[in-house]
Amino acid sequence: MKGAMERHRGFGDSEMIRDEGVILLLGAGRMGGAMLERWTDTATDPKTIIVIDPAPPPSRQRWMDEREIAFFPSLSSLPGSSDDAPPAFLVLAVKPSQVAESVEAARSHIGEATLVFSIAAGVPLAAFLSPLPRGQIGIRAMPNSPARLGYGATALFPSAPLTADQKRAAEGLASPLGAVFWLKEEAAMDGVTALSGSGPAYLFHLAECMRDAGAALGLEKALAEQLARQTILGAGAMLSETEESPEALREAVSSPGGTTEAALRLLMKDEALARLMRQAMTAAWKKAREIGT
Ligand SMILES: NC(=O)c1ccc[n+]([C@@H]2O[C@H](COP(=O)([O-])OP(=O)(O)OC[C@H]3O[C@@H](n4cnc5c(N)ncnc54)[C@H](OP(=O)(O)O)[C@@H]3O)[C@@H](O)[C@H]2O)c1
Repeated sequence: MKGAMERHRGFGDSEMIRDEGVILLLGAGRMGGAMLERWTDTATDPKTIIVIDPAPPPSRQRWMDEREIAFFPSLSSLPGSSDDAPPAFLVLAVKPSQVAESVEAARSHIGEATLVFSIAAGVPLAAFLSPLPRGQIGIRAMPNSPARLGYGATALFPSAPLTADQKRAAEGLASPLGAVFWLKEEAAMDGVTALSGSGPAYLFHLAECMRDAGAALGLEKALAEQLARQTILGAGAMLSETEESPEALREAVSSPGGTTEAALRLLMKDEALARLMRQAMTAAWKKAREIGT
């Protein structure tokens, strides 16, 4: 995957404020809801978002009501007249198994200029575009859950070369969520899914493991958890703020014969953690490929 991307740094760049028209969002579950909240918190007028979800959790429903976001349980209940401009974006944030029926249902609600985004893991562009007219532009996207806070990593791959306006519109949608990476090949998307798509959960598990190991060493569990959270946050900030490699950062904090080195010797013995991570990410990668076949 080396060199397979072009990076656009997000975090709400002011020139990326969205002014591109309506977003029709299908699915306001965990990821769709996170994107919805981030869009409305930052760059997007809530009146330009229409949400379709059969049964969002009550808290999300309340949240949408408070912001007067248009919400409907199904596309068939969406009021509209032929005078309405089609949405600028259709965003499919439903489970992979629900993508086909969702696109089919959305067909009559979009126009030829609508950019069709899908964030469904493993579902190829060809699959979600197949019910739509030839020439409809699709963008396969893989965000991750820190998108809610603007610290996400979103990889994008378009079904055809984009015009400058389409690229700007796509980045306007994705950049409030965090950093944006344009992939050079769709095949890289399964690796992205295994790394950044599923990755936040790996770090949450690491936090659990560090908390529990700290508690086993006699720390109060609540303190151990706070220390684990803050340590991951701090290390993440260092990774983000410096150009130094992860290896250089690790070496800089492990003095020979010291405590850190004693722990790393075990983690790195016979590449113990590296091998486990390779196996774990290969399992995620295989699952993404299975979904796509
Ligand atoms: N969670 C993540 O961190 C993450 C990261 C990257 C990508 N993704 C991708 O994001 C997608 C959604 O994942 P998720 O974790 O957010 O799942 P989720 O919490 O189950 O959300 C999906 C939502 O879509 C609703 N829905 C089902 N059919 C629909 C339809 N026809 N029209 C509109 N809404 C419909 C579901 O309602 P019901 O529950 O009633 O079916 C549910 O509320 C998946 O394809 C996943 O691969 C997720």
